[in-house]
Amino acid sequence: MNITILGIESSCDDTSASVIRNTLMLSNVIAGQAVHEAYGGVVPELASRAHQQNIIPVVTEALKQANVDKSELNAIAFTRGPGLMGSLLVGTSFAKGLAASLGIPMIEVNHLQAHVLAHFVKQTPGQTNQPEFPFLCLLVSGGNSQIIKVNNYDDMQVIGQTIDDAAGEAFDKCAKIMGLPYPGGPIINKLANEGNPDAFAFSKPHIPGYNYSFSGLKTSFLYTLRDKLKEDASFIEKNKKDLCASLQATIINILMHKLAKAAKELNINEIAIAGGVSANTSLRDALHNYAKRYGWKIHIPPLAFTTDNAAMVAITGYYKYQKQEFSPMDAQPFSRTIIK
Ligand code: KG4
Repeated sequence: MNITILGIESSCDDTSASVIRNTLMLSNVIAGQAVHEAYGGVVPELASRAHQQNIIPVVTEALKQANVDKSELNAIAFTRGPGLMGSLLVGTSFAKGLAASLGIPMIEVNHLQAHVLAHFVKQTPGQTNQPEFPFLCLLVSGGNSQIIKVNNYDDMQVIGQTIDDAAGEAFDKCAKIMGLPYPGGPIINKLANEGNPDAFAFSKPHIPGYNYSFSGLKTSFLYTLRDKLKEDASFIEKNKKDLCASLQATIINILMHKLAKAAKELNINEIAIAGGVSANTSLRDALHNYAKRYGWKIHIPPLAFTTDNAAMVAITGYYKYQKQEFSPMDAQPFSRTIIK
């Protein structure tokens, strides 16, 4: 039997809708929100209003591109959290209204779990490169840095996570210190490609287990710049590429060190990355290098699945549909959680 799921994602500043039939993606429409650029970060109230404007055209377009009629949908999967409350409310309320009008079930999806399960979305029918269980997934975004042991579609264990800032936050905050626009991650990545990663040394955390910390690095970056700027007011301008390359190398080094430790100690060589920072080319290169050195089988998501998207919500909904895990009509969004 075919199972056709509409996925809706609205946890932050991307409004997205996707149709998946079984595990095959039929459409994945994403509307970003340029309105935040002038503010150097996402403004929750503006995000919520933009979702309200975008949600109907985005869902309509996703159904059109998939060539699927509303009446063919088996269920509607929506991101219940974590994320911005006002943003989540738009997707959740829309999902409720549409599900009620069509008389089909709703399926709540955890945004972080969805990032991991994006690896199971097929873009072509014959695709067979999905990870095998158990695997480790390094989930790195603007809000999270976690190492997750994925035992099954519905069985994930967070074995390490940041105790303060997320990796994407470190990129974004250090970019801001250098006067670069938001989001800083992609810009640092681009400038770093032409810089020397060994030009500057920044402090690395020493914390036990598989946990991360990035706030010390941010402070070390800030103090280095503050001291150098006293000697030379144009220090940042003259050294921007080297600063970006050295900062990026430090972040990637911190991420990879704990990931490799976990892989070795848990004896798992099936390794995946997910989340916004998984778009970083240096992280991707590092993963390839470790794969060669340690015999890892690696899973790197297509760029379209690194940012927030509804295909990952729809695929998570698909696996929950198979277990008939539906949500009540009074399901409320939640802003913070980890994968249980
Ligand atoms: O998953 P995501 O789209 O949403 C949030 O959790 O916010 O991740 C966004 C984060 C931002 O911090 C952004 O700077 C970072 O991902 N990012 C990158 C790159 N592309 C996006 N960081 C480093 N290198 C990149 N190429």
